[in-house]
Amino acid sequence: MSTMTNTLDEQTWKTLTAAAVEAMCSAYCPYSHFPVGAAGLTTDGRMVSGCNVENAGYGVTLCAECGMISDLVRHGGGRLKAVAIVNGNGQACAPCGRCRQLIFEHGGNECLILMPTGPMAMSEVLPGAFGPSNLSEVTSGQALAK
Ligand code: THU
Repeated sequence: MSTMTNTLDEQTWKTLTAAAVEAMCSAYCPYSHFPVGAAGLTTDGRMVSGCNVENAGYGVTLCAECGMISDLVRHGGGRLKAVAIVNGNGQACAPCGRCRQLIFEHGGNECLILMPTGPMAMSEVLPGAFGPSNLSEVTSGQALAK
């Protein structure tokens, strides 16, 4: 259960959305013609971003959020506080299931996502998520192996 006050001021959402739009303009999407940009704000105030990068092997396409997470890790890591994802019209775009998992790893339940209906916490966007804490619950399967 999240205990955080799930808010971010309007101006910060605008700044984050503008960064996502800028990233979206670099999208490589010759197959879907659906450019996407993602921008994240870290808890220590940095911004990271990414765009979708498609491939002739459609299934190996990299979503915009993949690029954003790569940007985060490459620039020192840290925790995501808020994420904005935009489509080619600059409107908020819901993250796909796989990208919800990617964001959860680096932002947890409290991270805010700008959904088409407005900001939502990851605890709502990906309820009951599987994450790092689930791995530490079990150290080995040996205890049950006979
Ligand atoms: N896409 C993203 O970049 N992020 C999402 O969360 C949803 C989908 C991209 C993948 C593909 O290049 C295009 O949008 C159409 O699915």
